[in-house]
Amino acid sequence: MCGIIGAVSTRNITDILLEGLRQLEYRGYDSAGIAVINNQNNLQLIRKLGKVNILAEAVKHNSLHGGTGVAHTRWATHGNLTEINAHPHISSNIIVVHNGIIENFQSLRQKLFKKGYTCVSDTDTEIIAHLVHFEQYQQGGKLEKIIKMIIPQLSGNYSIVIMDCLNPELLVAVRSGSPLIIGCGVGENFIASDQRALLQVTSRFIFLEDGDIAEITKTTIKIWNKIGQIVERPETLSKINNNEELYQKKNNFCHYMKKEIFEQPLVIKNTIESHINYGMITMAELGPDINILFSKIKHIKIIACGTSYHSAMVSRYWLEELAELPCDVEIASEFIYRQSIVQKNSLLITISQSGETADTLSALRLAKKMGYLGSLTICNIASSTIVRESDLVLITNAGIEIGVASTKTFTTQLTLLLIFVAYIVRLRKMNNILEKNIIEALANLPNRIEKILLLDNYIKKLAQAFINKEHALYLGRGTLYPIAMEGALKLKEISYIHAEAYAAGELKHGPLALVDETMPVIIIASNNKFLDKIKLNIEEVRIRGGQLYIFAEQNICLTKSNEMKIISLPNVEELVAPILFTIPMQMLAYHIALIKGTNVDQPRNLAKCVTVE
Ligand code: F6R
Repeated sequence: MCGIIGAVSTRNITDILLEGLRQLEYRGYDSAGIAVINNQNNLQLIRKLGKVNILAEAVKHNSLHGGTGVAHTRWATHGNLTEINAHPHISSNIIVVHNGIIENFQSLRQKLFKKGYTCVSDTDTEIIAHLVHFEQYQQGGKLEKIIKMIIPQLSGNYSIVIMDCLNPELLVAVRSGSPLIIGCGVGENFIASDQRALLQVTSRFIFLEDGDIAEITKTTIKIWNKIGQIVERPETLSKINNNEELYQKKNNFCHYMKKEIFEQPLVIKNTIESHINYGMITMAELGPDINILFSKIKHIKIIACGTSYHSAMVSRYWLEELAELPCDVEIASEFIYRQSIVQKNSLLITISQSGETADTLSALRLAKKMGYLGSLTICNIASSTIVRESDLVLITNAGIEIGVASTKTFTTQLTLLLIFVAYIVRLRKMNNILEKNIIEALANLPNRIEKILLLDNYIKKLAQAFINKEHALYLGRGTLYPIAMEGALKLKEISYIHAEAYAAGELKHGPLALVDETMPVIIIASNNKFLDKIKLNIEEVRIRGGQLYIFAEQNICLTKSNEMKIISLPNVEELVAPILFTIPMQMLAYHIALIKGTNVDQPRNLAKCVTVE
């Protein structure tokens, strides 16, 4: 989603802004822009469709120079993908960059039109610039006061940074839903939607809270809360360490996604090791009283979106089967708009890679008012809003994930969820052996994944058969049904092939009609209680001529036929099978996308961090 960076300094901040945009690229965007005020208080503005490099090239030719500026990557919500709709937007001396949505922008636009303002773009952002300009012209006074005046007129979730050519010594920022972080420097200060954009210049950060307005100059930072009181927000040192920086390098891989797929043995191991102490699972980060809270749990509600929702689905099987705890999982965007009933003694769990997903955050905020026992989040970003607003936090040790399609953050979510389930089982004194079995199965997992990664060339060859396909069907049962969903999602996201996943038992209830000799059907077959049933599904597809791709444990005996490709995988304990089977699904999607020549790391229309509803 949109990325913001701003700076007030005595030095030329153009390169800092551009580097910040590069660091924000992973969030997903369609255009980029930069505005810098020069020494004569003149605005230099460049906007470009496409990648930051195109913008950087244009900046080089126009030699931008100045100490105060803002820059932006736009992920379009209102208005087509055009240069004119790219940010920053201006109204005379006022310059605005914005992340989020102003829901009532059409009515504001009409009001402004009556006052003589004509919008040149189709965006909701431009009206903010005109509103500020109008109030400044009418009332005069400090920028921060004018912005306080216009905020009640704006509805929606947004963050904005505003700059004024008539007063280039400061930036004013508003956080209302979407994240904004101040970077503290010496004789200079910064603001961005993500601390990664600012690590190049500082490691000291102030996280704005919802409703905060900040006035930032070279030497001062003033913050007002939503009721207009001056507040001190704590300054924190970035938790992004050198290891994290390693994760940001592509090394010899041609895509982050491939690198992140191949990092999985390591990051899964890290996630396991950080939760095992003397052969027992530990949840030390949840504090000394956690067992008191956990022993009260009678129900678990899990809320998430996209890939994280798939890990929630897998964990429901684990929670109900292993811990005998009733569990419901729900897509965040559905939860927030329906009247739901809170079960007695229910723990709320949110799962989010980024910790900034607007739907999941809204769900958390809503649920906190509803009477859950408490809120636990499973997240990969320790400094994220969801982490800061949750009562309890479990962090996946996946390291930063740059590829828009989630890979290693999904498998580490699953790993952590399984560890969590084992802990609950021990606490409920149901089964002493299960914890041991889970630890053993997890310990063996990284090696088994390494073996699957060796299939890279083989899967690359298989991928050839998909390049002219428009559809694919994924089938799995039990905990492998959500893995089929995840496989289908990966294929859709990065190769733009329509893919659907079904619980294999549903095949004959409809999707079988789609199967003919052109349809690839990907089946996940594990040596579990469903094996005979999966074999029946394979036969149902085979006799209708479907092109079968069966990802199966090597100890499974299957009757081979010409239409069938069997991808033989290491045998695996049933408990960790969903984690293992995910890897070849990711590899298949990756190779198909690679052959199709799509933008694997930044697929069209998608964003890494979905900060708008
Ligand atoms: C898919 C993907 C998305 C995210 C979803 C939720 O590869 O990455 O479906 O899973 O947008 O994001 P988080 O987990 O950050 O809440």
